[in-house]
Parts: sequence; structure tokens; C-alpha cells
Amino acid sequence: MRFLSILDFDHEALSACLDLAAHYKSARAARVPHDRPLDGRHVALLFEKPSLRTRSTFQIAVRELGGNVIEPQTDVALGGRESIADVARNLERWVYAAVVRTYAQDRLAEFAAAAQRLRVVNALTNEEHPCQALADCLTLIETWGSLRNRTIAFVGDGNNVATSLAQAATMLGAHVRIASPIGFELPDHVAESVARIAKSGGAVELVTDPVAGVRDADAVYTDVWTSMGQEDEAHGRVSVFLPYQVNAALRSHARPDALFMHCLPAHRGDEVTDEVIDSAASVVFDQAENRLHVQKALLAMLARG
Ligand code: CP
Ligand code: NVA
Repeated sequence: MRFLSILDFDHEALSACLDLAAHYKSARAARVPHDRPLDGRHVALLFEKPSLRTRSTFQIAVRELGGNVIEPQTDVALGGRESIADVARNLERWVYAAVVRTYAQDRLAEFAAAAQRLRVVNALTNEEHPCQALADCLTLIETWGSLRNRTIAFVGDGNNVATSLAQAATMLGAHVRIASPIGFELPDHVAESVARIAKSGGAVELVTDPVAGVRDADAVYTDVWTSMGQEDEAHGRVSVFLPYQVNAALRSHARPDALFMHCLPAHRGDEVTDEVIDSAASVVFDQAENRLHVQKALLAMLARG
């Protein structure tokens, strides 16, 4: 049982995860005890890139499900001291699950393939960020009830966040429009995957014009112009992405009640202005909160097999 990608879920599993997350969220708010499927179990957190939200929420999620967290030094665990496969084979003997943030998705796949008994969760790779997409979908369902017949505009790099959002939201019936500069589009194989999994009219549409991207959208989502690991490209990306800044002028082309979304961390003044991220329509901290609830649901589902 693993969750390396939204594609590891079908529509039923995705819906079940979001329902369970809503249950955990309301139980936590009411301080009502819930099940502890990780009781007596250990979960390893292995992060090769910085993290505030993902690391904190997995630490809390594991503890609230009754488990314990270990955090091996990643420079030792994934840093070339031994093969990534051997790291996984060691961890498999001690821990129940591993939550891994790394670079190439292939690295994560290699780790998971080496330890078939280990539950492995993708905590972000260069290509995908499926836990973020779970939180994004829960946030939208809380506001809209359903994603069907809704248009979500993602403005910027066709990156890991865009990929997982496109897969999850179209699986729930949304229209996802992604406006990216030429050369930074959503990869073709992701668009093809969406065509296979989309339900109830869900679809992905790729455009280059940011205004066409946000026009009449129900939500406008953006992410950093330079992702972790791409720092060498940061300078060159600024001029390419500047026309894609989500500011009040661009935002005005979306529906008047359109939500603003961002996975965070935000680079204020680059991909989004303060007036947009701090507006009443911004749900960025709801997204951040929901990371906890969806990851509790995900870990519980993995524990139940
Ligand atoms: N959104 C997100 O994954 O945040 P972190 O990088 O802080 O974990
Ligand atoms: N696209 C960003 C997301 C951070 C949560 C990155 O990979 O750095």
C-alpha cells in the first residue's frame, strides 16, 4: 500500500479519504476521541528539502493517530552513504510507514519498490505533490460542496503542485485550466493521465494567456515561480513569469467570488501580491490546516490496507 501519486487512488478512494478527513477535522474541533490506527507503530519522516507545513502536519498526524515519529538525518539516510534501496530495506524492519520528500519521482519509486511491506507516502517530489492536492480538494469541497461544474485556474509553472491538483480535481469532476508560459507547461503525460481518470465532465485545459486562464474561474491558484531544487534558474524565471503574477488586475477577470489558493510558501510580490493573498477570498491557511486532516485520513487508510 503506497501513496506516491494521486494516480494511486481511484475516484472512490479519493472520495473516501476526503470524507474521512472531514470526520477527523470535526472530531478534532469537538475534542472527541477517534480511532488510533497507528497505535504502537512508528513512522519515519525523510525530508531532503525544507518543509514547514508537510513536516509539521505529518508529525502531528502520526501522533494523533497513536503512532510515533522518527526523523533519521536525511544526509545519512538518503545522502549517498548507502543506496536508497538499502535505506528502505533497513527502515522496513523497524517502521510501519515512511513519508518521503525528495527530488526525482523515480527516487521515491526506487525507495518504495525496495520495501514492499513499507507504507510509503510522497511528501513532495520534483514532479508531484499529492498530499497538497488532497488538502486543496478538501478546502474546495468545504466551500462549494462539490467540484463538479467548477473551474479552477492554475496560473504559473506546470509543476508538481499543478500536476497533482489537475489529477485530483478532475477526478472529482472539476475543469482545471492551467495558464503557463511556453516551456513551462504541464507535462504531456500528465494531461494524458487526466484524460484517463477525469470523472463527471472533469477536464484539463492548457493555455498560455494568463487572462484567458483566469477568465470566469471559480478559484485562482498559483505557486512559486522557482521550486525547490531549481534555485539556479530563479533569476531567469522572473521575467518569464512576471506576466503571470496574480494581482488585483488579473484576479478581476475571474468570477467576483473566486477563491484565491496557494500551497505556500508564498513569495509575496512575485507570484502573488499582498492584496490578493490577504483578501477575504484567500483560503491559503485553510489549505494549510487541511494538510493535517487529509494526511491523518491517508495514514489511517494505509493502515487499514
Ligand atoms: N505546501 C507545502 O508542502 O509546504 P512545505 O514545503 O512547508 O511543507
Ligand atoms: N512547487 C513548490 C511547492 C512547495 C510546497 C516546490 O516544489 O518547491
